Amino acid sequence: MTKMNDRPASDALVVFGVTGDLAHKMIFPALYAMVKNGELTVPVIGVASPPMTTAEIHARATDSIKQSGIVVDGRVLKRLLSLLHYVSGDYNDPATFVALKGALQTAKRPAHYLAIPPSLFATVIEGLRAAGLADNARVIVEKPFGRDLASARKLNAVARAAFPEDSIFRIDHYLGKEEIMNILYFRFANSFLEPIWNRNYVSSVQITLAERFGVNDRGAFYETAGCLRDVIQNHVFQIVALLAMEPPVDRNYGSIHTEKAKVFEAMRPLTSRDLVRGQYAGYRKTPEVARDSDVETYCAMRLFIDSWRWDGVPWYLRSGKCLPETAAEVIVELKAPPAALFGDANPAPGLANYLRFRLSPNAAIALAARVKRPGKEFLGEQCELYLVEELLGAEPPYERLLSDAMAGDGALFTREDAVEAAWVVVDNVLKRHSRVIPYKRGSWGPDEANALLKQHGAWHNPTIDRNRSAR
Ligand code: BG6
Repeated sequence: MTKMNDRPASDALVVFGVTGDLAHKMIFPALYAMVKNGELTVPVIGVASPPMTTAEIHARATDSIKQSGIVVDGRVLKRLLSLLHYVSGDYNDPATFVALKGALQTAKRPAHYLAIPPSLFATVIEGLRAAGLADNARVIVEKPFGRDLASARKLNAVARAAFPEDSIFRIDHYLGKEEIMNILYFRFANSFLEPIWNRNYVSSVQITLAERFGVNDRGAFYETAGCLRDVIQNHVFQIVALLAMEPPVDRNYGSIHTEKAKVFEAMRPLTSRDLVRGQYAGYRKTPEVARDSDVETYCAMRLFIDSWRWDGVPWYLRSGKCLPETAAEVIVELKAPPAALFGDANPAPGLANYLRFRLSPNAAIALAARVKRPGKEFLGEQCELYLVEELLGAEPPYERLLSDAMAGDGALFTREDAVEAAWVVVDNVLKRHSRVIPYKRGSWGPDEANALLKQHGAWHNPTIDRNRSAR
């Protein structure tokens, strides 16, 4: 992506929530990789409330990096620890920001990364502004950005009061994944796709983001979110936008965001009839989950994009926890040929030619087409032509996103108008929906989700051939 922001790179990174889970799982390993690649040479100030010493934070960072499975190079680790400092304090206390200012010493253009619960975003942004720490600075905000349209608008207003839009970096870590970037590349670096990439040839699109694991120790967070807020309104919608957008006029930050925002604006707001909410058996026994919780751990929906290109094409989206596989996949199903020349050439709905993007655990793009079987009869079978099977050398998302944000490159982040337009689509069903339907762990969710597809066959369940892991 080209860099649109010609302001100089950030000269310090401040990580709010440095003692939290996200820092332990993702951020320290990303910082280590950035130091290793020479992308991080400036001070890193961790901020959090526990009264810990810098030595204790160093021990935590070391533990996180070792646990991540990286082969640790002692010299790189030492370099990272020499950059890493700690400020402890309450985010509501102006003294915390005074202490942060002291720790920043001569830094003039810090990037503030808010790896903290969303309920604290406004407090920290306000604290930064009041202390003069927002001047010439950038702010990197973790998802979820708001919990509905009204809170997203409020949060945008708070952020915009302290920072200009091109200094606000809203993270959706899916945008930093190589497989997701490849959707944009594959669509617009090839010409064969464009003639068929519309309502005349595409009969439906399915996106599945399945996870075998449950909520585990994230009960408290999950109770405030649910599947629709946690992954659909952001990760899955971002995939939809990349698949559905019009060609951008160029590769710049603004052009891609503008086209994506138009997709969200053209999405028809969902009604409860378009949605099936499920909850896996045993979810209510998770620590910090209400015994009568109505929070969905599974969500399936039928979505329409009312645009010239996609009018009438249903988009079936689903995600869930405790499903049979951990895999993410897109199936773009094409219409059947118009004349049934052969006995099997007009396949049943859901079995026509398709393009399949496997996004995880491995990356693959496959085109399924019917091929004649040897023999007298004109009968065939659907075979997949593999276009890509693996994307090697991919940079993990947090490493990519943090270095982009520090360099001022906003292409892989979300823009205010797009975030709000995406909330508009789901706002109604967040407020009005039917109760969750229980489903068995290890199943593909409630049977009721099949009814959403109607004339479009069945859900394609991603399978993983352990011998050929992308299938
Ligand atoms: C996070 C959600 O944003 O994305 C999690 O909070 C989810 O619930 C995760 O498991 C999925 O991301 P990935 O990169 O593991 O596919």
